[in-house]
Amino acid sequence: MKVIINSAMTVDGKIATSSGDSKISSREDLVRVHKLRASVDAIVVGISTILADDPRLTVRLAKGKNPSRVIVDSRGRIPLDSQIMRTASKVKTIVAVTDQAPEEKIKKLGDMGAEVLVISEGKKGQSAAVPHGVNLKLLFRKLEKMGLKKILVEGGGELNWSLLRLWLVDELTITIAPKIAGGRLATTIVEGDGFDEIAQSIKLQLKKIERKKGGELVLYYHL
Ligand SMILES: NC(=O)c1ccc[n+]([C@@H]2O[C@H](COP(=O)([O-])OP(=O)(O)OC[C@H]3O[C@@H](n4cnc5c(N)ncnc54)[C@H](OP(=O)(O)O)[C@@H]3O)[C@@H](O)[C@H]2O)c1
Repeated sequence: MKVIINSAMTVDGKIATSSGDSKISSREDLVRVHKLRASVDAIVVGISTILADDPRLTVRLAKGKNPSRVIVDSRGRIPLDSQIMRTASKVKTIVAVTDQAPEEKIKKLGDMGAEVLVISEGKKGQSAAVPHGVNLKLLFRKLEKMGLKKILVEGGGELNWSLLRLWLVDELTITIAPKIAGGRLATTIVEGDGFDEIAQSIKLQLKKIERKKGGELVLYYHL
C-alpha cells in the first residue's frame, strides 16, 4: 500500500482560515491535484473537512477515473444532503464509522449507495480532538484487502496527525501559497497533540521542488 498526503497551506502553515475558508491554492495546482486523484485508488478525508467544505472529491479538472472516496467519521455525522452522499450511488463511497454511529444512520447511508465499514475505535489519545476515533491501521488494512492500494489523503489537520503518528504515510506533498492567513484558531496542516520535543518529530526527505507562477511552491517529501 502507498499513502500520500496532499495539502495546500499558507506560508504560516494554515490549511483554512479561522472562519473556514480553504481556497488556498491556484487553479494550476488544483489541476495537479485532480491529475493526482485520477492516479489513485481512493481519497481519504476526515469528517470535519466534509462538514467545512462539502467537497465532491472527484476528478473534474483532468482526464481519468474517479477514485473511491473514504470518509473517516466515527459517529456517522456525514450529512445525507452532502455532495458526497448525493453522488454515492455513482461514485464509490465508503464511510468508516465506529460503533458510536447510530444504526439508523448507518442504514440510511447504505440505502443511498455508500458502503459503511464499522471499524473498532482507535486507542484513546490517538489524537487530541479524537479520543476514540476510527482505528486507522485496521481501516487501511481493510482498504488494501478491498484492492485500494494507492491512497491519497486530503486532510484535514487532525486526520493528517493521526496518520503521521501511526507511520501510515509514505509521501507528503505540500503546496505553499505565498500568503499569510494568521489566526490561532485557523486549522494547520498537522493538528493533534503534536510531539513534545523536536527530537521526536517525524523526519522528512525533500525529493523535489516545483516553483509555480505567482510564487507558489510544491514540495515533495518522502517519510
Ligand atoms: N487546504 C487544504 O489542502 C485542506 C485540505 C483538507 C481540509 N482542509 C481544511 O481543514 C479543516 C478540517 O480539518 P480538521 O483538522 O478540523 O479535521 P479533519 O481531519 O478533516 O477531521 C477530523 C475528524 O475526523 C474524525 N476522525 C475519526 N477518526 C479519526 C482519527 N483516527 N484521527 C483523526 N480524525 C478522526 C473525528 O471526528 P469524529 O470524532 O466525529 O469522527 C475528527 O474530529 C477544514 O477547515 C478544511 O477546510 C484544508
